[in-house]
Amino acid sequence: MQSRVPLLDLEVIYEPISQALARTEEVITRELAADGEYAGEVAKALIQGKGKRLRPALLLFSAQADRFPSEASYVAAAAMEMIHVATLAHDDVIDEAALRRDEKTVNSVLGNKIAILLGDFLYAKASSMLSSLEDAKLLQWISDATTQMCLGEFTQAYLKETPNLSEAYYLKLIHKKTACLMAACCQSGAYLSRGSEREQELLYQFGLNFGMAFQIVDDYLDITGDEKILGKPCGLDLLRGKVTLPIVDLYHSAPEQKDFLERLYTAGIQDGEMQKLKNLLVESGSLERAMDRARGYMDTARENLEKLEERPARESLLMLADYVLLRQR
Ligand code: IPE
Ligand code: IPE
Ligand code: MG
Ligand code: MG
Repeated sequence: MQSRVPLLDLEVIYEPISQALARTEEVITRELAADGEYAGEVAKALIQGKGKRLRPALLLFSAQADRFPSEASYVAAAAMEMIHVATLAHDDVIDEAALRRDEKTVNSVLGNKIAILLGDFLYAKASSMLSSLEDAKLLQWISDATTQMCLGEFTQAYLKETPNLSEAYYLKLIHKKTACLMAACCQSGAYLSRGSEREQELLYQFGLNFGMAFQIVDDYLDITGDEKILGKPCGLDLLRGKVTLPIVDLYHSAPEQKDFLERLYTAGIQDGEMQKLKNLLVESGSLERAMDRARGYMDTARENLEKLEERPARESLLMLADYVLLRQR
């Protein structure tokens, strides 16, 4: 499917929901202030950092928040961002990362204990906010998505990663750790704006495919990106021995590199080997094939949207899809 002319500026894409996003920020600030103390302050600093707000935006566009403003949508969008930021705080402990959203990570400044407790606090707070909406269905969807995310992160950390993982395994992992939450954002938004079951299902599928593409691009940017633009470390997946799609592809498409890759993932990357690995990923076409997979998922996401009856937010979601494929942050 033909990609549209990209509008890369998130502010422009978000314009129709700018008020709804501002209300969502107010909810976050209000909720964190209510639990004041120290955790609220640390959480606020992390949340109010330069995140892209993709999950609230997916929810609010799916809820057509510009046409049907509702307090419940703002609360749900705020909770989704809080759940996301909780996972970031924990993920940076797991990955021993020092940079996030252009700032030093909580774990690197205040230590792992604080980062873990902060993540727990944000999860708990988000659950409480969602419970206040008194909608068991919504709570179930979001809890299920959060469970999947934890399982994805758990499996990735629990199993020793080797480059001979199958592509199917990698795709299953990112489905759990990233795509399910984005799908739940879209489904919840459609539900909160009283969309039909069909609309809820189509938007759920859109979010799922969007999320798959999003994580493949994230893994691609770890290899090709610029830390100053990305606002988080580059090359960290390779350094920490995380197996991503370009690596899986290289392992299976270039048998002569198997020994080299296996050694890297057993002994760790030595000086000079990072550049060699990056060159190999480019020359073998593995990087480009990974991006092709991302484009494929986004095409399917767009097809899900095309099936929706005319909805003003549809155009915005299509632009967001283009943004994700071309993003550098
Ligand atoms: C980062 O998500 C974590 C992944 C799922 C790859 P984002 O790239 O959406 O992070 P922020 O919210 O913009 O910081
Ligand atoms: C983690 O994936 C995704 C989450 C569910 C938090 P990554 O480890 O690739 O995320 P980044 O690159 O640190 O943002
Ligand atoms: Mg990480
Ligand atoms: Mg990453």
